[in-house]
Amino acid sequence: MVRDWVSFWDTGHPIYVSARHFDLHYRTTADDIIALIRSPAAHVLDHGCGEALHADKIAAHCASLLLCEAAPTVRARVAERFRHEPKIRALSAEEVENLPSNSLDLVVANSLLQYLKRDELDAILANWHRILKPGGRLVVADIIGPRQSAPKDALALLVFAAKNGFLIAALLGLVRTVFSDYGQIRAKCGFAQYSEEEMLGILRGAGFRPRRLARNFGHNQQRMAFEAIKA
Ligand SMILES: C[S@@+](CC[C@H](N)C(=O)[O-])C[C@H]1O[C@@H](n2cnc3c(N)ncnc32)[C@H](O)[C@@H]1O
Repeated sequence: MVRDWVSFWDTGHPIYVSARHFDLHYRTTADDIIALIRSPAAHVLDHGCGEALHADKIAAHCASLLLCEAAPTVRARVAERFRHEPKIRALSAEEVENLPSNSLDLVVANSLLQYLKRDELDAILANWHRILKPGGRLVVADIIGPRQSAPKDALALLVFAAKNGFLIAALLGLVRTVFSDYGQIRAKCGFAQYSEEEMLGILRGAGFRPRRLARNFGHNQQRMAFEAIKA
């Protein structure tokens, strides 16, 4: 029974329209995270990591990689997938709340903030600020602006699919999505949407020095990414 976004992500949802899409999505996300790592000594957290299929590629570029996932079934799969990778640890959201202060160089959250209520966002930002080292970086990506809409998201997916040879699967996947729990949960819980100015103000208010990045992660460049330095 899907009650909220986390329980939706914990089901066999139809968001990844084919094995190729699933693989490409996580490959691209891994490359986007790798591009942010500035030193092989870096300690990195990917918060709301989802399936993190290619986290081992990321781990090859840093000293440690923490993968935080709230959905228990997804987290168990991630832990199992990387059980032989000593640099990777799968964590619950509660475990991230108990990480030591000033311990991380980089925190990344791709496609997470839209699922958080405003009080949850404030709490998670405060914790990220606490666990980052002074000068450490937070990168939040896939932020949905106020004028973003489901048809624009669908179009971005179709363009990505056409370029990568899974257009038919994407069309079928979109139809499956419309008739899945996704529509119901999107109508019930909605998405948090922020303008560029709002997001910059929220990050500043949480003690960061923020700027919008030129590129979002992944294929949907209508959404936004921000870098925020712990001041
Ligand atoms: C849209 S998926 C994004 C997954 C991945 N970051 C990516 O780029 O594909 C959002 C993920 O965040 C997880 N999530 C939602 N709220 C969370 C929270 N408070 N803490 C950790 N994970 C959370 C969901 O279970 C889901 O797997």
